Amino acid sequence: MNASPLQPAQGKDKGEGHTLYGGVTNRRVTVRDIAAAKQRGEKWAMLTAYDALTAGVFDEAGIPVLLVGDSAGNCHLGYETTVPVTMDQMVMLSAAVVRGTRRALVIGDMPFGSYQESPAQAMHNAARLMKEAGVGAVKLEGGERSARSIELLVEAGVPVMAHIGLTPQSVHAFGGYPVQGRGDEAAHQLLRDAKAVQQAGAFAVVLEAVPAELAAQVTEQLAVPTVGIGAGAGTDAQVLVWTDMAGMTAGRVPKFVKQYADLRSVLGNAAREFAAEVGAGTFPAPEHTFK
Ligand code: KIV
Repeated sequence: MNASPLQPAQGKDKGEGHTLYGGVTNRRVTVRDIAAAKQRGEKWAMLTAYDALTAGVFDEAGIPVLLVGDSAGNCHLGYETTVPVTMDQMVMLSAAVVRGTRRALVIGDMPFGSYQESPAQAMHNAARLMKEAGVGAVKLEGGERSARSIELLVEAGVPVMAHIGLTPQSVHAFGGYPVQGRGDEAAHQLLRDAKAVQQAGAFAVVLEAVPAELAAQVTEQLAVPTVGIGAGAGTDAQVLVWTDMAGMTAGRVPKFVKQYADLRSVLGNAAREFAAEVGAGTFPAPEHTFK
């Protein structure tokens, strides 16, 4: 039977002497496990996922937290930015990731325009991600400006991951994707944003594209974990967009990306070989043929 996330963790689920993934064997990772990992000083990895098949691979590989990011816009749905992504799309993609996984905490991203109007709008759409897709938490962008919405969601029982620094939904306001938090005033604002979302009840904070020293300072000053992307090695966790991490992305990737595989070449070569064998008449061979 699954342990309730509301009951105190017991026995081997307590997380003592275990890693975030290894310590939980009969249920999904919860935000309480994540809080315990910060107390243990355990660093953990988060990847994005947009479909059941890929999410299942990451779940089996031991990735404890999967983010159905609105980066689906440019990494999965063919848009140039995350701005056009809709709630209906996020619900569909998030539901697929939940169906494809057993262990990971699945976090559904709130797309542009789904929470900025009011805390009530944020609540309405967060409830859709939880009820229709089955996610265990939501993520939204913004520091002080999003604090009231985060507070309402948390009060209503919705775990919220905040996202500050470079917030890609503001790409048109930023005029691109510049590093954030450079200079005294910007650094102080980043610290104020981090403290505001923690105070509002966020269980973790994504820090995107900020100088490593500043990210480490924020991490030290927060009781909740920070999740870095382009924020150096001093954060509690790291997230990468899976298509960047696995080498599926065409063209240049940001400086902070490490490519752990070259899936674009692997898949391209497989497709070319298939087409060549069909052309040559060597596929299907007898072993692929019914008698
Ligand atoms: O949408 C996304 O994938 C994200 C991560 C890069 C943090 O917000």
